Amino acid sequence: MENGLSRKMSKARILIVEDEWIIAANLRSTLEGLGYEVTSVVLSGEDAIIHAEAENPGIVLMDIKLRGDMDGVEAADTIKALYDIPVVYLTSNTDDATFERAVDTDSFGYLVKPFEKMELKYAIEMALYKHKTENVIKEKTRQLEELNNNLEMRVKEEIAKGLQKEHLLIHQSKLVSMGEMMVAISHQWRQPLNVIGLLVQDLEEAYEFGEISRDYVTDMTRDSMAQLNLMSKTITDFRDFFKPSGDRSHFSVKAAIEECISLIKLQYENNQIYVEFVAQNVNVGARALSDSPRMSEITIFGYPEEYKQVVLNLITNARDAIREKRRRDFFSQGYRGEILITLADLKNSVIVSVKDNGTGIPAGVIDRIFEPYFTTKEDGIGIGLYMSKIIVENHMGGKLYVDSSENGVRFTVEIMK
Ligand SMILES: Nc1ncnc2c1ncn2[C@@H]1O[C@H](COP(=O)(O)OP(=O)(O)OP(=O)(O)O)[C@@H](O)[C@H]1O
Ligand SMILES: [Mg+2]
Repeated sequence: MENGLSRKMSKARILIVEDEWIIAANLRSTLEGLGYEVTSVVLSGEDAIIHAEAENPGIVLMDIKLRGDMDGVEAADTIKALYDIPVVYLTSNTDDATFERAVDTDSFGYLVKPFEKMELKYAIEMALYKHKTENVIKEKTRQLEELNNNLEMRVKEEIAKGLQKEHLLIHQSKLVSMGEMMVAISHQWRQPLNVIGLLVQDLEEAYEFGEISRDYVTDMTRDSMAQLNLMSKTITDFRDFFKPSGDRSHFSVKAAIEECISLIKLQYENNQIYVEFVAQNVNVGARALSDSPRMSEITIFGYPEEYKQVVLNLITNARDAIREKRRRDFFSQGYRGEILITLADLKNSVIVSVKDNGTGIPAGVIDRIFEPYFTTKEDGIGIGLYMSKIIVENHMGGKLYVDSSENGVRFTVEIMK
């Protein structure tokens, strides 16, 4: 059998704590006869502690009843706790109560006096073996704990990496939306630029015909400034739209959607794509209540700028689907593109859906549209929906889902109140 007892016996160094000197002397000679080294023989618990520290024996043989204030159990506890030295008790049948205490404590063995030489040898070897095994287990437990901590760190690191990736994607998707915004701005500016162009031409003609009066200059200045203000407002709107979301706040869903629509409306209408916005207060019935002041009071708690980005992503995708349908299908070339945005105020949630009459999404594709970098578009990156899902579900605790038919697609954003 491969265990501590069958292997070659140890030459352990032993401290004897025994107040009856005849027993102590006997014990010493028996132990030395067995090949052990006795470091000292002491009579009291206090001395036992002092010698244990000074001599660092491999094992202590401890009589339970000792001279002095401290008994063997107390001394053994201290020695085990301070110096991690195993203790084997020597007891006599007479002191039952103390013996019970000794057994209760974390003992390494005990011998009832009088004992045989071989009993003594096995008790010592067992104690040494048990102590060694305990230390191995302690070490293994420590290693396991370390491994666990490392694993925890690895998991944390991976999560941090994931977050970093998410931030990168948010940044990327912001850049994409900014590209969209540049186009929107240029559309918004076309009209005021035209007007200013006309005013400047008129100025030249008025000069030639001698019509420039004080009133003329006042009118001209006022009209030009009105157009310039309009242009400047577009830029302000644009900048506000991309203001980084600070903290979470309560914001009006209706206002957020209207802001998105105002940025793209003109540009879309130039392409015969019409955006309609209907707000319904389901609690009051199915009437369209877009103009009801109550709808403006519907707020959700979250990041307004990110929320607008989601809505804008969905609108942009709807537009692309309509364009794609025109491109693919000859008979659809001039068809009227429609994007219907619905805001519904439910008891526990606010639901916004964006529905289009574009291509629809084929069955084989629909399961993949929320994956990062999945796109069916030549110039697409494929992060719009992935980002939108992260924003809605991870950042705002809501849901984003899709239904598709051959008539088009509807995306729904549900945020809990
Ligand atoms: N309204 C829609 N109608 C039809 N297909 C859609 C619609 N919305 C999304 N899809 C499909 O889902 C895919 C992924 O959309 P997503 O917004 O994530 O990326 P993208 O629009 O291709 O690129 P980008 O990163 O520029 O937004 C699209 O390529 C398209 O195939
Ligand atoms: Mg997109």
